[in-house]
Amino acid sequence: MGDKYLTLSELNLEGQLLGFVGGEPGKYKYLELAVPSGNVEIKLPKELRRSLSSSLVPGQQIRVCGHSKVDSRTSKIKIKAYRVTPIDVCPIQNLPLQPKAKIMVCQKGGCLKRGGKGFLSELEKTLGDRGLLDKVTIEHTSCQKCCSSAPNCVLEVGKKKYKNIHPEAIASLLESHLTE
Ligand code: FES
Repeated sequence: MGDKYLTLSELNLEGQLLGFVGGEPGKYKYLELAVPSGNVEIKLPKELRRSLSSSLVPGQQIRVCGHSKVDSRTSKIKIKAYRVTPIDVCPIQNLPLQPKAKIMVCQKGGCLKRGGKGFLSELEKTLGDRGLLDKVTIEHTSCQKCCSSAPNCVLEVGKKKYKNIHPEAIASLLESHLTE
């Protein structure tokens, strides 16, 4: 009898956000974090899913506070976060502002078949709605050699490149670079 999960310990992890998985776009259930010992999947609390999915971008350094638990039947260890905060705010603020950012959107067969056109129009609409269209150059590219994760795009802002990110996340990232 008793709880299926036994709490193991309190965790404070720092690492690079690799991306979000599970749930639905805009409300992902898990994030993947690269830490020195490998990659870990961390469950997000319901109340933070929407805000974290739109405010964090893959490649960002973050700090995760949470608990690790072990499933008493399977012995699998799970980590659940209760707080996630970005830790690379200062370096970004110190970067010289770039006059223009560039988004390279793949418009080749593999990506077009998997929503590349829709992705492009959603991107243009999102940037237009948020007044960012004139701050960025959108280029159509040929195959970016990662068709399995189509539709693909690369955002280049300053010296940083971000791959495979949602239009809303692109807009948030541009705002953080261009309005500070
Ligand atoms: S077709 Fe877009 S990455 Fe290959």
